[in-house]
Amino acid sequence: MWLRLRSATVRLTKVMNDKKQPSRFETKAIRTQLERSQYLEHSSPLYLTSSFVFEDAEDMRASFAEEKERNIYSRYSNPNSNEFVDKVCLMEGTEAGFAFASGMAAVFSTLAALLDSGDHIISAGNIFGSTHALFQNFFPKWKISHSYFSIDALETIEGLITENTKLIYAESPTNPGVDILDLELLGNIAKKHNLILVVDNCFASPYLQQPIRFGADLVIHSGTKLMDGQGRVLAGITVGKADLIDKIYRFSRITGPALSPFNAWVLSKSLETLAIRVDRHCENALKLAEFLECHHQVNWVKYPFLKSHPQYALAQKQMKAGGCVVAFEIKGGLVSGKKFFDRIQLLSLTANLGDSRSIVTHPASTTHSKLSIAERKASGITEGMVRISVGLEHIDDIIADIEQALQ
Ligand SMILES: Cc1ncc(COP(=O)(O)O)c(C=O)c1O
Repeated sequence: MWLRLRSATVRLTKVMNDKKQPSRFETKAIRTQLERSQYLEHSSPLYLTSSFVFEDAEDMRASFAEEKERNIYSRYSNPNSNEFVDKVCLMEGTEAGFAFASGMAAVFSTLAALLDSGDHIISAGNIFGSTHALFQNFFPKWKISHSYFSIDALETIEGLITENTKLIYAESPTNPGVDILDLELLGNIAKKHNLILVVDNCFASPYLQQPIRFGADLVIHSGTKLMDGQGRVLAGITVGKADLIDKIYRFSRITGPALSPFNAWVLSKSLETLAIRVDRHCENALKLAEFLECHHQVNWVKYPFLKSHPQYALAQKQMKAGGCVVAFEIKGGLVSGKKFFDRIQLLSLTANLGDSRSIVTHPASTTHSKLSIAERKASGITEGMVRISVGLEHIDDIIADIEQALQ
């Protein structure tokens, strides 16, 4: 199988004229690039092709027999998705990966490839609504069960482990409550009990946090968020240990959730500016969180790098900065919340996050509406909670819009 990073290293060295490989994040994001074609293009071209041709019958046989590392069919691999995967592997500091058509395709295919009927997942209760729906509504069909742990009681995790438990699943920061989970602790538990630790890292991006460093075996991203950063494409990716990625690759090349070459090309370009964009997202988000904390119409504010965040110290340990999402609760619950949303003028009322445009969302009626009120409560989602994905507009304009809507 074509395991991504190994071959990327070869190509990268070529592109860099055999100079030393770059070690810094920003340079890897820009200089990890496909080998140049005969046209000597500066920027990687788009390989919009569904299949690849063979020299002769022997070449075709050997390629299908996996005796050669080469592209065969874009459901299996494509130069643009290879470049995207290689970049993310380098950014996350890991071995191999596979790119998917959406974040949920990555979540589903990763788990479906690794789990067998009868297996058991231990997961944080605070996870993205569709991931929760997957565990709750679909996995029982294949006799895959789950137990949720409270993010306030990580000491209960070991008590949930049964002989069928195969995997621990978590997000940090969580969606939408921006709670922080102790990744090192989760890594130690997974290692001690020989479980696979899967971390959804899409709220942080590889620029702010690399869960592999803390013991994660696999890292999942919705590329739709900060990786694209401009709300254009859907994408997902799973990176991590080569033996696990091999299983995910074999499942995915048959079932067909692969990322399109065009979207991979867009994403790989976007990653070149990830660091600089995320720096500004974080700067704006912290300023907004500080503003909201002093506002008389606000009950509480949560942002990982705000000193009042319950896991502030942990956030400082695990993350480079706090991310783009700020959660808060308006006084007066749902009624005041509705008025707030109706008054918003500049910010977008939509469900995405990590976009250059600031976005305001009401999790209880949108992303987490399929959960019962009790399930939402257990995930820390109150009816009056607002989630803001702070964009790249001037911070004074973002604050001015929120301030007028709060009045
Ligand atoms: C934490 C998290 N994981 C996964 C997903 C799913 O990603 P996608 O919408 O690209 O399928 C989302 C989407 O919001 C998310 O917030």
